[in-house]
Amino acid sequence: MCGIVGYIGKHEAAPVILEGLSKLEYRGYDSAGMAVFDGEKIQIQKSVGRLKVLEELTHGGATMPGTVGIGHTRWATHGAPSDENAHPHYNQEETIAVVHNGIIENYLPLREKLISKGYQFVSDTDTEVLAHLIDYYYKGNPLEAITKVMHRVQGSYALGIIFAEYPDQIFAVRKDSPLIVGQNENGCFIASDVPAILKYTRKVYFIENQEVVRLRVDHMHFYTVDEEEIEKEPVTIDWDADAAEKGGYEHFMLKEMYEQPKTVTDTLMPRIKDNDIVIEELGMSDEEINAIRKIFIVACGSAYHTGVTAKYVIEGIARIPVEVDLASEFRYRNPILEEGTMVVVISQSGETADSLAALRESKKLGHKVLGIVNVVGSSIAREADNVMYTWAGPEIAVATTKAYSAQLIALYLLAMKFAKVRGNLDEGAFKSMLGDLKRLPGQIERLLANKQRIQRFANRYIGAKDVFFIGRGIDYAISMEGSLKLKEISYIHSEAYAAGELKHGTISLIEEGTLVAAVATQDTLFQKTLSNMVEVKARGAFVLAVTNEGNTDIEKAADYCIYIPRTNPYFTNSLAIIPLQLFGYYVAVGKGCDVDKPRNLAKSVTVE
Ligand code: AGP
Repeated sequence: MCGIVGYIGKHEAAPVILEGLSKLEYRGYDSAGMAVFDGEKIQIQKSVGRLKVLEELTHGGATMPGTVGIGHTRWATHGAPSDENAHPHYNQEETIAVVHNGIIENYLPLREKLISKGYQFVSDTDTEVLAHLIDYYYKGNPLEAITKVMHRVQGSYALGIIFAEYPDQIFAVRKDSPLIVGQNENGCFIASDVPAILKYTRKVYFIENQEVVRLRVDHMHFYTVDEEEIEKEPVTIDWDADAAEKGGYEHFMLKEMYEQPKTVTDTLMPRIKDNDIVIEELGMSDEEINAIRKIFIVACGSAYHTGVTAKYVIEGIARIPVEVDLASEFRYRNPILEEGTMVVVISQSGETADSLAALRESKKLGHKVLGIVNVVGSSIAREADNVMYTWAGPEIAVATTKAYSAQLIALYLLAMKFAKVRGNLDEGAFKSMLGDLKRLPGQIERLLANKQRIQRFANRYIGAKDVFFIGRGIDYAISMEGSLKLKEISYIHSEAYAAGELKHGTISLIEEGTLVAAVATQDTLFQKTLSNMVEVKARGAFVLAVTNEGNTDIEKAADYCIYIPRTNPYFTNSLAIIPLQLFGYYVAVGKGCDVDKPRNLAKSVTVE
């Protein structure tokens, strides 16, 4: 996520902004910039790279005099990291400057409309549309212009805006992306997150959706999107700086788990237009989609697990043969990629050495590669022929959660797009699945609210030595991820097994009290998995079951049940994984493990 800081007060703004942005560096970014009113005009300085580059460029802010300013650290979503794409963005007359955190879903049609009205763009960002749109509506009243823009744009945004004609004011606007404001005896502040202004004040106002704030040196006014003035109560922050970086959560991993509803929304909604799936970045015509004979999915770790899920979904609805391979295996086995094979490389970091090597191997063999990547401008993103971004924002915890959920969404969209183009998904089924996709964020939220129950159950297993996860079909893929989440952060040995395969050896390991987590969300396979649960229970296992609401039959064979809301059977991974993420997290917390930075692991495995 991008970072926003703004200041209007008695002191020089640039040093305050730089200090605030440094406290937001943990959020991950690729470029930084500031806009400061210098008494005559708005000056902007910005650059790709670390905040240090901007500090050196501006001599710690000294080359940007003025007491009113906004600043930004950018996590690229639309437009690769570059000086031009860095924020703030000007309107053409350089009398308005904007910083933005979020995604403007309808930026393309707005950009086209503005260009048709003579506006010229200098960047590839969705944010620059906002600068010109505010200019378009600005007739001397900033609040009126801002609220008109709010009625026009769709998507998520936290904005900081300054107007050269109103040098005694800063405007802050919020929809979905977080934004706070604060005040002390020396001025007023805006920020994406508490750490940026904790040094100056602990009394903050959390801006709600569709609210606008006008900040002056010594007071603030709050408005609705209809320009009605409202009163707000401040909140006193009692977190320390470290806790503040995590938004009050104990670990980044927990914070990122709770960001999953937004991650899913941000990855899903920009690609649903007029009840159809539009994946502009796919770069494939319907003819090319119809010409696909096989899909090869290559990835590592959790990304591989989303690939295994995608095999079931794509083969199930698009009827295209899919092979899924670990990148470390693919790159050395001289893979056979026939004519008409499409390669998909999935990677959160976009820097995983094995996955990058697999991409290069595929291209060497003459095949186009689609990257499904979270980090804009990463190596895999740059070298893939086309990239479908997951827009999960920077993921700090080594154990992936929100990026994993976003990858699933990207793969569902791909499967449905292919199925529809190839005539394997009728209109009714397509619309029903779209409805199920849109319900996922709310259903994930419901499951996250369950955390205390999961925590109590997890505390019973912090001493466990072996845990097994079993399932069939997509439930097997879910089991893989549930197992990895547990073992990589709690260091408890765990393995995922195809439930039907247990009797071919592994069942010999089941002893009295062994925990077996059985995932049973596929109704067509429910009875089979139920039998496997009975098998392990007969040998002393304690069975944790994860299944759909209403499947109470499972209580015949399970010792502990977790129910997930009903959704399309192809999408259950997005829900069943939530309690399994929480389970792994709370076992690790109970063991006192370093949850965000587990031993021996790196966030991105850039070596073989
Ligand atoms: C998952 O929690 C791990 N962090 C790890 O398995 C990770 O998924 C794998 O290393 C792939 O990383 P990537 O998605 O950045 O390529």
